[in-house]
Order: sequence, then C-alpha cells, then structure tokens
Amino acid sequence: MLPVLGPAFGNPSGLYALGREAQVAVDSARTAVARCLGARPSEIVFTSGGTESVNTALLGIAYAMRRAGAGSHVVTSAVEHHAGLHASQHLEELGFDVTYVGVDSAGRVELAAFEAALRPDTVLASVMLANNEVGTLQPIAAVSRILRQYQGRRQHRVLLHTDAVQAPGWVPLDVEALGVDALSLSAHKFGGPKGTGVLYLRRATPFRPLLHGGGQESQKRAGTENVAGIVGTGVALQLATVGVHVRNARVRDLRERLRAGILAAIPEADLNGCQTDCLPNNLNVSFTGIESDVLVTGLDARGVAVSSGSACSNSTWEPSLVLMAMGVPIRRAVGSVRFSLGETTTAAEIDAVLALLPEEVERARAGSLMRALRP
Ligand SMILES: Cc1ncc(COP(=O)(O)O)c(C=O)c1O
Repeated sequence: MLPVLGPAFGNPSGLYALGREAQVAVDSARTAVARCLGARPSEIVFTSGGTESVNTALLGIAYAMRRAGAGSHVVTSAVEHHAGLHASQHLEELGFDVTYVGVDSAGRVELAAFEAALRPDTVLASVMLANNEVGTLQPIAAVSRILRQYQGRRQHRVLLHTDAVQAPGWVPLDVEALGVDALSLSAHKFGGPKGTGVLYLRRATPFRPLLHGGGQESQKRAGTENVAGIVGTGVALQLATVGVHVRNARVRDLRERLRAGILAAIPEADLNGCQTDCLPNNLNVSFTGIESDVLVTGLDARGVAVSSGSACSNSTWEPSLVLMAMGVPIRRAVGSVRFSLGETTTAAEIDAVLALLPEEVERARAGSLMRALRP
C-alpha cells in the first residue's frame, strides 16, 4: 500500500501517467479478488467496507427488482449482522415486505421455514455465510438450491446475497459453488485495511447504485477509489485464501484447548452455537450469573480482549438478538462472551487466558447485579 500512499498517489480517473499507474494498481487488485472468489474482474465492486457492501446489495438489488415490476418481498434470516438487519428494516420503511426466517438452537437457518417464506413476489433472499457472534456456518449452497427449484417451478427469479464478511481465511469461497448472485466482504476481517470492502455482483444482476456521482466502479459505486485500501484488500485476500485448511486445523485445535479448559475449570459455563459446521476461530460462552460487560472489563484490565454478547446501558441489559433467536435463556444470554482466535494466536496465549479466567468469572459473579437482585 505504501507506494500508492506516497510517490504513486495518482487518481485512477486521471488520464496522466500517475493516474494510469493508480488504475493499473486498482485493476490488478480487482483481478486478484475475482480470482480468489471464482468470479470475473468485472463482477467485483470495491466499497468502503462490509456495511456498505451489504447495504448496496440489499437496497440496490431489491430496488432494481421492484422497478422492473418483479415484486417487493425480501427473505432474510433473524441472525444477520446489524448491517443486514438494519438495511432490511430500511427496506420495510421503503414499502418492501421482509420475512425474517428463524434459526435452530445452533443458529442455523431453518431451511423448511426459508422455503415456506418464498412467495410469487419474492425478489431477493439474503442469508449470511458465517455468523459473527456464534460462528455458525449457514447452508448457503442448500439455500441456493431451494431458490433454483422454486424459480424452476414458478418461472420467477429470486436473487441471492450472502454476507460473507466473517468467512475469508476460514472457509473456501467460490461464488459458483455457493450459488450466489451477490456476496459482501470487509477487508479488515481478513488482514486488510479498515474502511475497504468488496461487493461481488454476478454479471447481469438487476442493480441500482446506492451512490450517485461519477462513473467509477463501472457505474456501480460512484466516488474516487480508495486506491491504497483496494491494493491492500487484493493482497490480503490472496494471503487469506492460501492454506485455509491448514490454518483451520491449527486454530480449531487451539479453540478446542480453550473450550475444554473453560468447561473443566468453570462451573455453569455453557457453549453457544454449533460445535460442527462453524468457524474454527470463534468460541461463544455464557457464564451464568454474570453480566458480560463486567467480565470484558475485568479481562481487558489483564490484557485479554474479548467481545461482549450483550450491551449494557443505564443498568439494563440488551441480550444479543442472535442468542435470543437461538432460544438461549435470557439469564444465560446476558452473560455471553465471544473469544476470537486468529492466525497468530498461540497455545501459550490460550493457557494464559485459562489461567486467569476462573478468577475473573468469580469476581464478575460476586459483583453481579443479578446476584444482588436474587431473593
Ligand atoms: C457478518 C458481518 N457483516 C457485516 C459487518 C460490517 O463490516 P464493517 O464494519 O467492516 O462495515 C461485520 C462486522 O463485524 C460482520 O461481522
């Protein structure tokens, strides 16, 4: 990224040499990203991140389909990231009808309910590939098959988008194998820079751009390109795509070490999400009797960064919508914490967490407001 942030700082829209150089850098990143996804370079649109990609896919496709008179019904899952859920809610404000399909206790979309939700006016389905809270992998290829069969019976087109933001580096990505028309990525989730994303849009997918202005990104996303971000995205996705299976096996072993250590040492610890068909780097655990923010703060003070599954504001806890959709009891949901492992995580780091976690959970339980409220 450094050359295009420094001496090669040209704007790709410029016709002068510096501009052409920048355009070459953007084009080669586009080709690299396309190759990683099994797509054509012309099907890759660079965006400002996962949120923009998901919004652009949902709004851009749904809007184009409605304008073409195909209908205004969208099907999605109840466990999408806020980028998808809030974009769907916005579609409802624009007069679309959205069905939120439920999930089972592992967080996996109910395929029968998905199929039952399809209607003659359905234009778009959006189901995430990997859940960001519990790591559950959704059966996207099966969802795609259901749509194809439905289309075959009804002579009616339903497009499929997947939010694959959590997948690169852990799950092999191939748009043909997945059978999707659109797919969203965010570069910082696979080692690239923050503020850059990718939207795959299958050729001839009905689409109206979200941003209007210049003709960049083949008229699909106006605005001067973030050349350095795009260059970083191309390199990072190539690196993440290499050695997925080896990385997977190594990190899964570490996750197992963490899981087994927690269950052996801490009473009333429960795992959330599926244990098979899930991301290898994610462990979501509920410690009953705590509020997760308290544990997150305690661990942070000791140099361990974990995510809280619930948000606390004004002494009320908003449990994770994902855990609620999975039917996790609320007392368990407010005490959920997500451990995320990475390519560089070591066994020594897992052991260091296991050494201090029981004490921190005990401290969080002792100070719990829920304990104080108990009769
Ligand atoms: C599944 C999923 N989708 C979308 C996003 C949004 O990505 P960004 O914050 O890069 O816009 C995230 C971010 O965590 C995510 O996990």
